[in-house]
Order: sequence, then C-alpha cells, then structure tokens
Amino acid sequence: MSVSTQNEVAKATLNAYGMAIATALQSCQAGWSSTPLFDPIRYLLDLGGKRIRPALVLASCEAEGGNHTAAMPAALAVEIFHNFTLMHDDIMDHAPLRRGKTTVHEKWDVNTAILSGDAMFVEAYQALLGLPPAVLPATLALFNRTATEVCEGQERDMAFERLHNVTVDEYLEMIRLKTSVLLAAALQMGAMIAGADDERSHHYYDLGIALGMAFQLQDDYLDAFGDPEHFGKQVGGDILSDKKTFLYLRCLERANEEQRQRFNELTQVGIHPEEKIEGIKGLFLETGAADELRERIGQFHDRAMALIEQLSPNEKGRAVFEHLAAMVSTRMQ
Ligand code: IPE
Ligand code: IPE
Ligand code: MG
Ligand code: MG
Ligand code: MG
Repeated sequence: MSVSTQNEVAKATLNAYGMAIATALQSCQAGWSSTPLFDPIRYLLDLGGKRIRPALVLASCEAEGGNHTAAMPAALAVEIFHNFTLMHDDIMDHAPLRRGKTTVHEKWDVNTAILSGDAMFVEAYQALLGLPPAVLPATLALFNRTATEVCEGQERDMAFERLHNVTVDEYLEMIRLKTSVLLAAALQMGAMIAGADDERSHHYYDLGIALGMAFQLQDDYLDAFGDPEHFGKQVGGDILSDKKTFLYLRCLERANEEQRQRFNELTQVGIHPEEKIEGIKGLFLETGAADELRERIGQFHDRAMALIEQLSPNEKGRAVFEHLAAMVSTRMQ
C-alpha cells in the first residue's frame, strides 16, 4: 500500500470506529437514570474527546481476526472509565477547562464531580458486563489491575507536586501508571476478546505502553506549548501546579547557575501566574529541555513502530496502528 492509501485506510477505519463508539455510547446513556447525578456525566461524555482508547480496543480486536462489535462493551468500559478519571483529575489539578468547556467541578461543584465520577466508575463496570461470559473474567482482572495502577499513578503525580528531588525515571514510571497502562489494557483487551494467545496479547500491551508514553509526553508538551485555540485545556496549568514533568525536571538539570536562579525566582509563592508561565516556558526552551522532550517523544514513537513491525498485522491493522502512533506523538489537542 502506498503511504497515501495507507493514510486513507486508517482515517476511514478510525472514522467508522468513531461512529460506532458514538452510537454505542448513546444507547448506553439511554439506559441511565435521569436523576441529577447523571447530568454532569452526560455533559462530559457529550463533549466527546478523541476517543482514542475505545478505538484501540476495536482496532486490536479486528487486527486479531475478531469482529470489532464483539469488543464494544470493553471499548465503552474503557472510555467511560477514562472520563471518570478526567472528572476527578480536573478536581485534583484545579483545572478550569476540559475539551474547551468549563470543567464539571466548576460548572457544578466539587462534591458533584466526586459523586458523578463515582457513578461513572460503576457504569464502566456495568458496560464491561456486556462481554461474552467466556472472556469476562480475564478482561475484568486486567481492567481491575489497570484501574488500581491509574490511581497509583495519580497518587505519585499529586505527591510529586510537593517534592523537590523527583528523578526523570520516577516521572516516567508515574506517567506509565497514570496514562500508559490504560492504552495498553485497551489494546490487550481487544486482542484477548478476539482470542489472541497470551504472547500476542501481551505484545499488544507493550505497544500500548509505548503509545501511552508518547501520548503523555506530548500532553505535557502541549500543556506548556499548546495553542489555546486547539488544546481545549488551560495552557500552563502544569507550570502553575509545579508538576514535575519531563520539561520541569530536565530544565533544572540542564540549567546553568543564572538560569537555575531565574527558575527559583519564578517558582516563589506570590509570583503573578502569567509571569510564571511565560518565564518558565522561556527556560524550557533556552535550556534545550523542550527539544529533548521532542526527541524522547520520537523515541517512544519509534519503539511503537518497531512493536507494530513485530506484530506484523494485516495491511488495515498496520495502517491503523501506524496512524495512531503518529497521532499520539504529534496531536495538537
Ligand atoms: C487526556 O486524555 C488525559 C491524559 C491522559 C493526558 P485525552 O487527550 O485522550 O482526552 P480526550 O478524551 O481526548 O478529551
Ligand atoms: C491525566 O494526566 C491522567 C489521568 C487522567 C489519569 P493530566 O492531568 O496531564 O491530564 P489532563 O492534561 O488534565 O488531560
Ligand atoms: Mg493530572
Ligand atoms: Mg489534569
Ligand atoms: Mg496534561
């Protein structure tokens, strides 16, 4: 297949998955209670998002010879779970914007976001129950382990805000837990549902980890350098929270004496938020930390491409996975 045909195939396939996921989400929502508890859930889900995780579930299922509709309950569970983590993450991160709109805890209040998030967590499990009984126990076990790991990652993310001796390796492990394991589990679930053996389904998991690492590194890049028009989230939020991102950690490691002093002044309490964001972004660029981050993203992208090569999926599968690898590494929102 030529590169342009491959791109067309990937886009058409992902479009079809996107429509199938939207329809399935709508019928799932139709079964939910109409009590106010569900209003914020509908609000957040209706804002859409890229729906990359459920697409991964359907893609690996199809690539392993399954019918992608068989994997839809797992795709829904993963997407609803992801939205639950966003609702709670936005409370923890004091985020004002999500998908270009006011966050749930700001539009309603924090208690509402906690409770509606909890209900969403339950609905994720309810969706998973739609799987054929033969694949349910193994999928549920993977889902449970993943959900716990996401919480562990979020715990580290929050704890690191207050710590001053975080290493790049600790940061990478934190993002593996908070983000990558869910993309990995999404790919593994689809493969398992299609009946792939352990070796292949673990291979999909590893591919999801590589994609997830590139995805979160790109997210951290966009948090500083994204275009507010496209990003849909507050730009500079990580800087204001003193998030120990790759940019933050490598900037300090690479800084000379003068740059380190400027960094310290900018992170004093009481500094004007705009001044802090602009000053720190300048240092991310000056120290070369931003360029180094782009290189790291490229390395995880290459790792994903090598894993796709080893899986040697059919042409359609290859087109979709390669497109997704490029997408997570270069996305603007
Ligand atoms: C945001 O995920 C949370 C992260 C792990 C960075 P997405 O960027 O996939 O969010 P939506 O669902 O497309 O809005
Ligand atoms: C989010 O990381 C990870 C989870 C939601 C588990 P971020 O805090 O960077 O995600 P965004 O940027 O708010 O989407
Ligand atoms: Mg967060
Ligand atoms: Mg956040
Ligand atoms: Mg982020």
